[in-house]
Amino acid sequence: MPATVVVGSQWGDEGKGRVVDLLAAEADVVARYNGGGNAGHTVWVGDQKYAVHLVPMGVLRGKLSLLGAGMVIDLNVLLEEESELGSRGIPVRGNIRISENAHLILPYHRLIEAAEEERRGKHAIGTTRRGIGPAYEDKAARRGIRMGDLRDPDALAEKLDAVVNYKNLLLKNVYKARTVDRDEIYRALRVMWDHFGEAVCDTSLIVQEAVEGGQHVLFEGAHGTMLDIDWGTYPYVTSSNPLSGEVVAGAGIGPKAIDRVVGAAKAYTSRVGLGPFPTELEESVAQKMREPGGEFGSTTGRARRIGWFDAMVVRKSVRLNGIESLAITHLDVLGPFEEIPVCVGYRCDGEDVSDFPNQIEMLMRCEPVYETLPGWQSDISHVRKFADLPQNAKAYLKRIEELVGAPVSQVLVGRQRDQSILV
Ligand code: GDP
Ligand code: IMO
Ligand code: MG
Repeated sequence: MPATVVVGSQWGDEGKGRVVDLLAAEADVVARYNGGGNAGHTVWVGDQKYAVHLVPMGVLRGKLSLLGAGMVIDLNVLLEEESELGSRGIPVRGNIRISENAHLILPYHRLIEAAEEERRGKHAIGTTRRGIGPAYEDKAARRGIRMGDLRDPDALAEKLDAVVNYKNLLLKNVYKARTVDRDEIYRALRVMWDHFGEAVCDTSLIVQEAVEGGQHVLFEGAHGTMLDIDWGTYPYVTSSNPLSGEVVAGAGIGPKAIDRVVGAAKAYTSRVGLGPFPTELEESVAQKMREPGGEFGSTTGRARRIGWFDAMVVRKSVRLNGIESLAITHLDVLGPFEEIPVCVGYRCDGEDVSDFPNQIEMLMRCEPVYETLPGWQSDISHVRKFADLPQNAKAYLKRIEELVGAPVSQVLVGRQRDQSILV
């Protein structure tokens, strides 16, 4: 299958990093198409933990890895990532290419985001404070600075003049926050160009050539469908489109080039940050899953909120992304439970709800309807063949398939690279 997309089908942290890492073994090119350093994708190899934020997972396997036009890039984060991976023997710069159309996250984006989250008070989004939202705002407002703008020092200076003046007015007069120094930003960007300039190009040409040459291209989605700016639990979402459809704009390829869409889904649900979460569990139960499931934000370290599997969420994701098969992760984490509730539908104002609501006011009035499945009460982390899973675990997966309308193609039973089952 030459072009495969891996998308998150819940609220992020489904284990996309693991799924991409597994598929990357067979890939020639791995490309990110959305988001920025708000993503945190983790893979464990032995006792080594690799958590990447901007660099596609492909670098771990030495594959050509692209940062697409749909991304927003903080070059300081990229530099840190390069040095951290480099110190562990994983070369980054030679293996990455950065889209000249990708937008940059600059110091004022982080300052504005922090001030804006404060201003929102109890209506804060609970963002990762990486400057993501303000960078996408500038992109839409047509005043963003793009990677390719660093090529021409004079043009860059002119663009920065205009935008920094405006941002400082905002920071000083609206937010009463500290301002930024235009010359400092300019100098820092010149240094970054010297470092990363050679990797900057039109990455869509690489994607196109790879697809036409029958190579395997893997598109690594960041975040999750419920965090999509158009289809997620707005306004408690991120500022990009994690959906598979964004591959087209964010990586620069026609829709017909995509052969396969794999949805990553946890065997339960998690969410970091604020916003509605119908199947959220009380802390006494969530606690049992947090350590075994590694449920701490990879980017911010925040304890993740945890809930039972919500078929309303994943069914909507299957539809919106065109998911053809599911990689179910974290099945091992459900091992200790005698009974496992699964949300099969919602009731709102006394009526059944047929599709996950788009309006959060309605979503917040929804009550999950649960079906209880028997647990398997055993450790499955050593299982490597589907046939060797306990009957109740197989039945659990079968029920998920029926409820969401997509078959399970992979099952992950632990955080290590080899803890996976191909169905
Ligand atoms: P991503 O953002 O979708 O790539 O997911 P994250 O890496 O942010 O979060 C997933 C967390 O779960 C990480 O701590 C992984 O090490 C861990 N993990 C991934 N898959 C599994 C699994 O099948 N079982 C268990 N127990 N942990 C897993
Ligand atoms: P990966 O790729 C989980 C959440 C934040 C917050 C909201 C907006 O690791 O699955 P932002 O900084 O994007 O403006 O924050 O989105 N969020 C994520 N939650 N996993 C992610 O990425 C996320 N990226 C953003 O917690 O609620
Ligand atoms: Mg993550």
